[in-house]
Amino acid sequence: MTQARHVVGKVGDIPPGSRKIVEIGHRSIGVFNVDGEFFALLNRCPHQGAPLCLGAISGTMLPAEPGQYSYGLHGRVLRCPWHGWEFDITTGEMIFVPDPVHARSYEVSVEPPELETFPIVVEDSTVVLYI
Ligand code: FES
Repeated sequence: MTQARHVVGKVGDIPPGSRKIVEIGHRSIGVFNVDGEFFALLNRCPHQGAPLCLGAISGTMLPAEPGQYSYGLHGRVLRCPWHGWEFDITTGEMIFVPDPVHARSYEVSVEPPELETFPIVVEDSTVVLYI
């Protein structure tokens, strides 16, 4: 299946740290500029369908030793406006810090929710989305 070319706008329309939400067909897609690189995510949270791309862009707390606080990934984390789930804008993956405390365990699998991402390129100072 071939992908159609969709012009999102000029690079200058989406400065670093900002986003632009575009409607393409029945899809709403957020295009993000993270330190000069562009990424595109479906504007629908895989949890309960919130308009994810309207969420706050920030960093998050990283795993650290007890009593230590480590903030990182600044500008790469998108927080869902409904329940606060966090996603890495650059990969679409959910940010999850596993509980380091272990109790008796049983085999079980949890598959992370999938967030749809799209290829995006810059052509002659124009941001272009391919779907
Ligand atoms: S709808 Fe996004 S975290 Fe619940």
